[in-house]
Amino acid sequence: MKPALLELLRCPVCPGLSARLALDAAERRGEAIVAGRLACAAGHAFAIADGIPDFVEPHDAVAARSAVYDTLWEAHADQRYAGREAEYRAKFQAFARLPEPLEAHFRGRVVLDAGCGEGRFTWLAAVLGAAHVVAVDASRAALRRARAGAGGLANVSFVRADVMALPLGRAFDCVLSLGVLHHTEDTERAYRAIVRHLTPGGLVTIFVYGRRTLPWVIWPLRRWSLRADRERVRRLCDAYGFGYDPARRPRLAVGRALRRLGRLDVLGLGRVTYEGLTTPYLREHSLGEVRRWFAETGVELLSSTRQVSASGRLVGEP
Ligand SMILES: C[S@@+](CC[C@H](N)C(=O)[O-])C[C@H]1O[C@@H](n2cnc3c(N)ncnc32)[C@H](O)[C@@H]1O
Ligand SMILES: [Zn+2]
Repeated sequence: MKPALLELLRCPVCPGLSARLALDAAERRGEAIVAGRLACAAGHAFAIADGIPDFVEPHDAVAARSAVYDTLWEAHADQRYAGREAEYRAKFQAFARLPEPLEAHFRGRVVLDAGCGEGRFTWLAAVLGAAHVVAVDASRAALRRARAGAGGLANVSFVRADVMALPLGRAFDCVLSLGVLHHTEDTERAYRAIVRHLTPGGLVTIFVYGRRTLPWVIWPLRRWSLRADRERVRRLCDAYGFGYDPARRPRLAVGRALRRLGRLDVLGLGRVTYEGLTTPYLREHSLGEVRRWFAETGVELLSSTRQVSASGRLVGEP
């Protein structure tokens, strides 16, 4: 953990996003804090383990849910982002549709990547010149991968936390959350929880599944898969090519064959994935809903897509 992160951390239990956390019993390696404890004046304490402050209680529901993502992210080979800036700019702009140059939105800014996953947009914001990017995820494996891909940069920090209760103040010029909010217990509540961290004039970009983005067959399949032994679901997905990792070689590439059929795959089985079958929460939203969330939190819409993604700027108080 970088000492600069301490300035941005706030106790997630104390109300008002204003209670600071003090560092206790820190073990350092050079500047970096590799282990220790963070505590607020009211006595709420959180561990720093392997250099990452951890705000997910070991036995709570968020910890249990993040295990699904641990399996997903562990299945991947680590990403190497260096030299792939053009590719990731294009990936980000497919959602964000911000006026170019992208640097204008990130240079010198404090950025929150809420649900960073493997850190592709954490890395992008950092190389586009952000002052500090805080990458948050509930999954330990996601953070490990994000750190492998973007952790070498001086302006990136990692935090393990629930997007619903971020241990951060209202200090961010830019909040990104792509492909995350629809995996929480309440998408709108999660959106409101992340936008609280934006400073007036700040930029927010979100992506949530649009209506009928997911193949309809996923819904009846989930009635089985969410109850089934997860390891069995994973083995089945791996064997038939419904896995999350395109680099895996399945025994029978049924998933790939169905994907080639495109529209002829009327059931949409080719678009079923291990994530879709196992992620505890999965919802689709309309652009109208997202527009309403923005309007009700004082965020002026800058751009949107029907996927659904949207970018906006905070004009009033959220
Ligand atoms: C589909 S990935 C998206 C990752 C990244 N934003 C991207 O676009 O590549 C969803 C991520 O959200 C994280 N996530 C889901 N629910 C969360 C929660 N309540 N708090 C923090 N992270 C969460 C998962 O662990 C996972 O890494
Ligand atoms: Zn506290």
